Amino acid sequence: MKGGPIPVFEWIAAYSVNVKRCDDDHQRLFELIRELRSAILRGKSAEVMDKIVEELEDYSVFHFTAEEALLEAANYPLLEAHRTEHRKFIERLAKFRREGIAGQPYEVLNFMNRWLVHHIKTIDKQYSDYLNATGVF
Ligand code: FEO
Repeated sequence: MKGGPIPVFEWIAAYSVNVKRCDDDHQRLFELIRELRSAILRGKSAEVMDKIVEELEDYSVFHFTAEEALLEAANYPLLEAHRTEHRKFIERLAKFRREGIAGQPYEVLNFMNRWLVHHIKTIDKQYSDYLNATGVF
């Protein structure tokens, strides 16, 4: 890779939000990011990379919808701001897809890695105590 090795981002226990279904979804998202990393390193075709990113987008939408439904059921006060973060991520992914993944695979990969780690550690972690106190899940 230009500028050094590609980091491998793994889900670690420190990322847990103590809501199993969300932790499971987050682990799946890391798995898909690793699939993209592997496709890049193996020089897979643009078609293969597009398909992985499409799956990442679909799974992100699936996860965000489920997470937002939980937060809504719990009357989570920061839901709207959280929803906005999700929407911005999907919009960025859509822009990458319009521009083409194969022309900028490392940018896409790094964006995904950075966004997911940051989002879980800051935005998602914020709901952990609240959700666990309400017991809606
Ligand atoms: Fe787990 Fe807010 O995404």
